[in-house]
Amino acid sequence: MKKACANPAASGGYSRERASTGRVLVVGDVMLDRYWFGTVDRISPEAPVPVVRIERSEERPGGAANVARNAASLGARTRLLCVVGDDEAGVALERLLSAERVVADMHCDPSISTTVKLRVIGRQQQLMRIDFETLPSHEVLAAKLAAFEEALPDVDVVILSDYAKGGLAHIERMIAAARTAGKPVLVDPKGDDYRRYRGATLLTPNRSEFRQVAGNWADDAQLAAKAQRLREELGLEGLLVTRSEEGMTLFDAAGMHHQPTHAREVYDVSGAGDTVIAAIGVMLACGTPMAEAIGVANRAAGIVVGKLGTAVVHPEELEAPTQQGD
Ligand SMILES: Nc1ncnc2c1ncn2[C@@H]1O[C@H](COP(=O)(O)OP(=O)(O)OP(=O)(O)O)[C@@H](O)[C@H]1O
Ligand SMILES: [Mg+2]
Repeated sequence: MKKACANPAASGGYSRERASTGRVLVVGDVMLDRYWFGTVDRISPEAPVPVVRIERSEERPGGAANVARNAASLGARTRLLCVVGDDEAGVALERLLSAERVVADMHCDPSISTTVKLRVIGRQQQLMRIDFETLPSHEVLAAKLAAFEEALPDVDVVILSDYAKGGLAHIERMIAAARTAGKPVLVDPKGDDYRRYRGATLLTPNRSEFRQVAGNWADDAQLAAKAQRLREELGLEGLLVTRSEEGMTLFDAAGMHHQPTHAREVYDVSGAGDTVIAAIGVMLACGTPMAEAIGVANRAAGIVVGKLGTAVVHPEELEAPTQQGD
């Protein structure tokens, strides 16, 4: 089959060939997104709730595992370092990730259950979401830190995907070790205390995450002032605020660079942030400058929001020549 476009310049900087030279290490909180679909014919005799008879199920890697599968889909050699429980959800995650060419180093903690978000869906609507999650133990996290330091020499970029589930307890030491080794560190943050991300290369909060740490803004000038203050305080090279339908804005030492969204159709925005950080990681790992890497990530985000569920972008979709107005 003829490739649509292998010329990186014509496809906005991306080519599968170039991406395949990059090595990305993803570390963070993994989860299993599980969907149970069924029919509802009656109300339970035990309580005033519907009885759902399950007919089929679907499973997808979520959180840091979704970041890793997005990086692998774009062609980078991708490793994932994470903690799971000694349970069938952990086994399911391992199977899903290996099918997507992610090399997963899963530290098993028998004292926890693998994080699972289970949605029960009947009559085309979500009836309930059931979450399983527990904080990993100190011993397993220490082993994970040692594995991180061991993995560092063989990767080009580190992505830390924080979903506040405890897997990144040693994030400060991870950032310091990676920066000492000269590797760019990208962080998808959570929570209201960003001091733990000090020294990272790039932080990628979405609008509401940024609002949580910096407060509201009335216009772009105020947003820029807040973003630059936080960037300087934390010693970051860049702060990328992803702004859903408004696109994304990078703040760096040179100022503010905005990119409107590329999305033509929007079906499902969940996981778009994972695609963004994965694409930036893949592009930096193969030697692309930051501004260009973000351009590719913005195109990837525009594609992924047009797909259902937490999805991935495929090389041929990014290799298609950029069109006028793109
Ligand atoms: N409704 C939308 N319309 C157009 N583009 C969108 C929309 N939502 C997301 N995008 C694209 O995806 C990018 C990332 O989305 P967003 O800022 O919502 O990240 P996020 O909230 O971290 O996503 P998630 O947490 O679901 O992974 C945006 O910068 C934009 O390019
Ligand atoms: Mg996000």
